[in-house]
Amino acid sequence: MGPETDREATLIHISDVHIFSARSLRLRFLLDKRLLGGLNALLRRRYMHSFDVTLAALDVVRRLRPDHLLVTGDITTLGAEVELRRFRSALEALPLSPEEITVLPGNHDAYVPAVIWGRLFERIFAPYLGSDPGFGPVEWPLVRLRGPLAILGCSTARPCPPPLAVGALGPAQLARLEAALGDPRLERRCRVVGLHHPPQPGTARWHNGLSDARAFRRVLARQGAELVLHGHLHRRLATTLPGPISPVEVRGVGSASGSSLPSHRLGHLYVFRIRGREVLSEESWVYDPGSGEFHESR
Ligand SMILES: [Fe+2]
Ligand SMILES: [Fe+2]
Repeated sequence: MGPETDREATLIHISDVHIFSARSLRLRFLLDKRLLGGLNALLRRRYMHSFDVTLAALDVVRRLRPDHLLVTGDITTLGAEVELRRFRSALEALPLSPEEITVLPGNHDAYVPAVIWGRLFERIFAPYLGSDPGFGPVEWPLVRLRGPLAILGCSTARPCPPPLAVGALGPAQLARLEAALGDPRLERRCRVVGLHHPPQPGTARWHNGLSDARAFRRVLARQGAELVLHGHLHRRLATTLPGPISPVEVRGVGSASGSSLPSHRLGHLYVFRIRGREVLSEESWVYDPGSGEFHESR
């Protein structure tokens, strides 16, 4: 491997856009007892998130034209098909090909039973999900090599009714992740692990955490990674987890559609510039309600 991995690449990370459509409130959903209990809490979200802010976040993607866009889940508010399709349409309007965008599911995208959800999410986002040839069929984690970037996209989404928002990777996915992180084809690339739930201790609570976070951290400690990117908490977080040689950088991104004050709830995204295994720079961009645009936050 040479020039391909040595060139510079830009990665944008967004999450938790929580698209809402009144059409989501079809009788089918209202009759779902699993959803009914948490419906009020779910609908409150529509006032905290704005599709216009999501479009402003995607405008940053249009302006910077990154090598890759990573979306770490909670695409929807109610896990409805119309919400998923609305986001896909917004992605289709970007000057990026599906090969340059990876979309992962979050707990909000998994309110309906796993089989139905699995088919729906994978059908709608199929172009944004495939692993590269040689890394197996569509099975989590996805492995996508893009210049110096090795995107390892995990699914932590597990069907659970609100107010539960727990996630899990499962032993099979963890085993595949460990094998991929140690794969020689990734040797000189920046290994970016994307997942919805935060894997670090002390950030989530019993009702919204990653149940096998400890097992995930053990995989990281054995194999290492250059970046772990997550969403779910709707706030900016920066920390490290132990790796085999050096600490692994972990970043939590705020919601890309956050439209309400206080300021830490306003739309947020990350821009990383990467060469080989090195993260050259990291920027936070935050939504400014005055201009209706995202600006780099200093
Ligand atoms: Fe969320
Ligand atoms: Fe979430």
